[in-house]
Amino acid sequence: MYNGEKLNPKQFVETAVKEIREQVGNDTVVLGLSGGVDSTVTALLIDKAIGHNLVCIFVDHGLLRKNEFEDVLASYEGLGLNVKGIRAADRFFAACKGITDPELKRKAIGKTFIDVFADEARKVQEAKWLAQGTIWPDIAESHSDKGTIKSHHNVGGLPEDLHFGLVEPLKYLYKYEVREVGAELGLDQYFLGRHPFPGPGLGVRCLEELTPERVHILQEADAVFIDLLRKEGLYDKIWQAAVVLLPVRSTGIKDGARTYDNVVALRAVNSVDAVTAEVVNLPFEFLQKAATAIIAQVDGVNRVVYDISPKPPSTIEWE
Ligand code: XMP
Repeated sequence: MYNGEKLNPKQFVETAVKEIREQVGNDTVVLGLSGGVDSTVTALLIDKAIGHNLVCIFVDHGLLRKNEFEDVLASYEGLGLNVKGIRAADRFFAACKGITDPELKRKAIGKTFIDVFADEARKVQEAKWLAQGTIWPDIAESHSDKGTIKSHHNVGGLPEDLHFGLVEPLKYLYKYEVREVGAELGLDQYFLGRHPFPGPGLGVRCLEELTPERVHILQEADAVFIDLLRKEGLYDKIWQAAVVLLPVRSTGIKDGARTYDNVVALRAVNSVDAVTAEVVNLPFEFLQKAATAIIAQVDGVNRVVYDISPKPPSTIEWE
């Protein structure tokens, strides 16, 4: 499909639409939407090719950003996509109970995702194909020469009884190319400018065991950081920003009394393709403002640090 030369988005769309039509004919396709650019562009391409024979499933695993499920679902309505929103946070927290190892946690989230997704996909009459927003770095990192670095989460490995074929029109593209294709398809800045967000969501940023309470703290801190980046005009200058809830508590003081609360790390990186990434030199005054706002507004956090580690040797996500 795509031969590695500079992408011509218009031509890419034409070819991809033709190939999707040839591949799936009049069959029904199901797709897991995540709210991110990759799966949204995949949905738009397939929608362009086969219209309402595409059924999209958007699973709320309870590890999305604050209010993200509702906000994204509303935006998809605006795009005219056929989307079913499924709330399944309880199943994910139950599956991750007691797990502290990052890879086991990724696997538990991935497996639960497959179970929830498969339950919904079975309800879609005549579905024969599974579409995914897989992009090239997902494949490269899951199968590097030196073994798996992180098990990337997508909807691979569905139960055999579903017998789905795979449709992955973006699998040879880098993220910036996906954005070019999205722009060609008329996707607005709200989606195009969104920072990448991992499939396992805040699950890989809430270190060690996942509990609804800890994820809630992380959602609140993340919302304060991201809102402030937007307000200060920094969001669009950064490739990806995140807050990480550390498995550490530290002593602090509030209203004259001792506190013993959580520590969060702020992360902001620039990258082209996620294979390497450099730390963003955020203004120190901004970092101070973010730390003060998070500590004041988020119950359960009394210390904020800034992660200044490039990739490699660190990865972007902490788990
Ligand atoms: P790392 O942490 O490997 O992240 O440096 C590179 C990029 O990939 C995103 N990421 C994921 N995306 N499923 C995804 O769809 C995943 O399991 C996953 N893990 C990491 C990460 O947010 C960064 O943009």
